Amino acid sequence: MLLKGHKIVYFGHSAFLVISQKGKTILIDPWLSNPVNKRTIDSVVNEVDFILITHGHGDHIGDAVDIGKKYNSEIISTFEITNYLGSKGLSRLSGMNIGGTLRREEISFTMVEASHSSTIYDGDKAIPGGNPCGFIITLEDGLKIYHMGDTGLFGGLNYIAELYKPDVVMIPIGGHYTMGVVEASYALKILNPSIIIPMHYKTFPVIDADPEKLKELLPSELKERVKVLKPGDLLE
Ligand code: NI
Ligand code: MN
Repeated sequence: MLLKGHKIVYFGHSAFLVISQKGKTILIDPWLSNPVNKRTIDSVVNEVDFILITHGHGDHIGDAVDIGKKYNSEIISTFEITNYLGSKGLSRLSGMNIGGTLRREEISFTMVEASHSSTIYDGDKAIPGGNPCGFIITLEDGLKIYHMGDTGLFGGLNYIAELYKPDVVMIPIGGHYTMGVVEASYALKILNPSIIIPMHYKTFPVIDADPEKLKELLPSELKERVKVLKPGDLLE
């Protein structure tokens, strides 16, 4: 009963599907064609209500165009990224920016800062993607899921912890492009969530981090909250 009826499916890298208690489906950073994932969306659900994209890099925009078209999903991202996806034929676009909250019935999406970059590379063109971000998703019963996107440590984690008190945190640990296990362990002491899901590691050799190392760096009460998911795993 960890998630009180909500479910989370991991597709490897930073790609997750959240299925809420009432059956709303939220896909985050939909790079399902990554090298470690074999599970398809339609093996899990037959609709995708929302697609959230944290920044413009290819490993996060991923398959948003194909999936968004197939399911007629609402795309939630920065104004720059939704604009770009509009030029690729997607039409249900909600571009927002850091600090904003979008409400859809009983679910809300709050965009928070991330310390990273966000250029979109489209063939030989580099397109500004606005600021990179993370999302706090508040589900029907108030459960808060914080997907951090790609980020290093930043001072704003303190107010995110205080104001939103996230229950579930999806945190990058791979290093090189994002924080590694040392920085992640520090961030988790600030955030103090009930469920910790490591992400953005082992997809390719340069981010070959070990979630067991993260556990070793955490105090015992946080250590047992780490849920190491393999691509294709379901947490409920
Ligand atoms: Ni990135
Ligand atoms: Mn990335």
